[in-house]
Amino acid sequence: MRAIDIIEKTKNKIPLTEQEIKWFIDEYVKDNIKDYQVSSWLMAVCINGLSKDETYYLTKAMLYSGDTIDLSSIKGIKVDKHSTGGVGDKVSLVLGPLVAACGCKFAKFSGRGLGHTGGTLDKLESIPGLTINLSEKDFINQVQDINIAIIGQTKNLVPADKKLYALRDVTSTVNSLPLIASSIMSKKLASGSDIICLDVKYGSGAFMKTIEEATELSNLMIDIAHKNNKKVIAFISDMNKPLGKAIGNKLEVLEAINCLKGGGPKDLEDLVVTIASYMIYYSNLSDSLNNAKSLALEKLKNGDAYNRFIKLIKHQKSKISSFESFINIKEIIPLKSKENGYIEEINALDLGINAMLLGAGREKKEDPIDPDVGILLNYQVGDYVKKDDILLYIYKNDKWDKNIIDNLYKAYKFTNKKLTKTEIIKKIIL
Ligand code: URA
Repeated sequence: MRAIDIIEKTKNKIPLTEQEIKWFIDEYVKDNIKDYQVSSWLMAVCINGLSKDETYYLTKAMLYSGDTIDLSSIKGIKVDKHSTGGVGDKVSLVLGPLVAACGCKFAKFSGRGLGHTGGTLDKLESIPGLTINLSEKDFINQVQDINIAIIGQTKNLVPADKKLYALRDVTSTVNSLPLIASSIMSKKLASGSDIICLDVKYGSGAFMKTIEEATELSNLMIDIAHKNNKKVIAFISDMNKPLGKAIGNKLEVLEAINCLKGGGPKDLEDLVVTIASYMIYYSNLSDSLNNAKSLALEKLKNGDAYNRFIKLIKHQKSKISSFESFINIKEIIPLKSKENGYIEEINALDLGINAMLLGAGREKKEDPIDPDVGILLNYQVGDYVKKDDILLYIYKNDKWDKNIIDNLYKAYKFTNKKLTKTEIIKKIIL
């Protein structure tokens, strides 16, 4: 086989066989195919797409490009969750401890943030002393003991995705449904959980801009899961506006703690509690979705979910005793409203990009981040503000860009009409 024939076929919309896709991925992982040839194929996929079968073969080739994790020694049903990426997305920090407190086995390999989107590992690592590096044995033991572990991907888990993702990132080939579906599902299938909940985000701050695109991606991932005999539930959620009020690593940890103690914000709590209900119900820990929801709400109110979070961070070696002076910041700049009205829009992409400019996120994979900086909203979409009310606070250390203030003002739209608040989850696909 020759790489050029594979590229030629996709360029001419001729379907590839399973053997061809497996050969291409295997040889690329072994460095026998050059980046420039794979880039060319990725661009052909972006333009012409792949069939459902080809997407499945690609996922399979990526899945078996390295180690797979065997969680069978953990008793019970193992649950995992993945978000397609968003702004202010601290769902895993709340959902994991919450479902663990309800009896689920939450075994999660997380990722880092890139561009305007945040990553769970960066948020966890902002907690002093916490490690996201556990051996497979310690990971399994921890899930067995306290029902939860959240760590970074082990070195040899889906090496094909590591190489492909790095290449996609610099060749404008991230945004393709078959490439996103195979990237996510190969990692989720390799991680060994029984039930996978996918938080598929759509809107300005997400990869998918419309509900239709998010639905198509969900169906593609569900199809791959079914072919692998896995249960997948997709939650299509709104990422036109940031999730909650905090953007930036430590600010998001504090907001997650507030939510774990039953204090909201409502959009975050609604999203978490809905996903938790499905995890609890499908783990056979409740006889109905309604009872599962009541159990989740009870655990947020009675302190069990928060206590499980403390257990998680202690097990992962953090010695923190209080979150009171958690944030070290040189300056907090309030941004005042220039007008009266209901907030119609807070553009998630704009907020994510400006948080990144402050140092909360990284433009390139190797960039350092500043865990203390970020943006804290004072109001959310639908709220009424008067002129001079503080819209948000900018948490600033050394990184700054002269356009940040203007950019943030431009992210807002106001209206005179009272808005009806909309649900955060638009669709659930089983
Ligand atoms: N998240 C992933 O893991 N892969 C993608 O391709 C996009 C989002």
